[in-house]
Amino acid sequence: MAIAHGIKTLGVIGAGQMGLGITYVAALRAKVPVQLYDRAPEQISKGLNLMDKLLAKDVAKGKIQEAEARQARERVSVVDQAVGVRGLRDVDMVIEAVSENLELKQRIFSELSAETRPDTILATNTSSVSITKIAASAVPRGESAASERGRNSAGRVVGLHFFNPVPVMKLVELISALQTSNDTLSRSRAFAIACDKEVTVSKDVPGFVSNALLMPFINEAIMWLEKGVATRDDIDKTLRLGMNHPMGPLQLADFIGLDTCLAIQQTLYAGTGDSKYRPSVLLERMVDAQWLGRKNGKGFYEYN
Ligand code: CAA
Repeated sequence: MAIAHGIKTLGVIGAGQMGLGITYVAALRAKVPVQLYDRAPEQISKGLNLMDKLLAKDVAKGKIQEAEARQARERVSVVDQAVGVRGLRDVDMVIEAVSENLELKQRIFSELSAETRPDTILATNTSSVSITKIAASAVPRGESAASERGRNSAGRVVGLHFFNPVPVMKLVELISALQTSNDTLSRSRAFAIACDKEVTVSKDVPGFVSNALLMPFINEAIMWLEKGVATRDDIDKTLRLGMNHPMGPLQLADFIGLDTCLAIQQTLYAGTGDSKYRPSVLLERMVDAQWLGRKNGKGFYEYN
């Protein structure tokens, strides 16, 4: 028998490409009302515009009916800037999808632990930060992390790692922190399935399964470009045509965002001390130059 996720309302923090994609699949596929919060109002309007475009495209392609698109859009509401995270106090699950910054995530989870109900699931879409570290911050102020109340609060935290573009990629990686309860894990899995995703499980190791394997591959491709082993186009073409990858590694790095790739690689390197994860100098310099990939028009390729 399928396990009920019990999520009647979802909160999403961060309206960037991941947060918006999660909002899209939750509202359209899981048919759950979503309250979207981002501290930058312009990010919200950009995200909602993209959602309108994606829904219109699905309607034009005959993938969904116009009424389904309208209902999905109506399920999404925006949390008032002045209210902030407090606006999510009545939701059954929150998925955080802000940038890969541990302090920022810890601040958000500390606030969420104070503002949400004790049974609200607190999920993070982080691609590499330790879920256990994030969970340790989801403890009510003044409470010890080792006390029963502290442990119960941290037990609501889980990693729910979606892939970009979220509407297309079939996978969600489910990551258990040391503190995550079995109930949190099984309801989170059921929710991912309701969003029409397949689920794999990874331990809370740096990069989990996905990025611990993907990032050295991308980094190696950047080093080969740096060393002049082959041109940008030939590196990408080799992987696209030789191995049937949908994108070559340099194109994929641009797609993910070079700043995100660097942040993940730094986390992998710091978390393992293993030199195989050391980011390439070229990647560091490109991020120094603010060449961040597709999101701002210049990475290994140029975009209009
Ligand atoms: N949002 C929503 N839908 C999108 C999209 C986006 N940003 N980009 C493309 N699509 C949709 C298109 O609308 C199209 O849908 P239909 O089939 O309904 O027409 C479909 O994807 C295919 O798109 P295109 O025909 O335009 O282009 P394509 O065939 O080259 O596919 C792609 C584009 C799906 C992005 C494909 O190139 C691909 O799979 N690339 C690899 C992506 C990948 O590896 N993602 C994981 C990155 S790692 C990550 O996210 C995790 C992390 O922690 C870093």
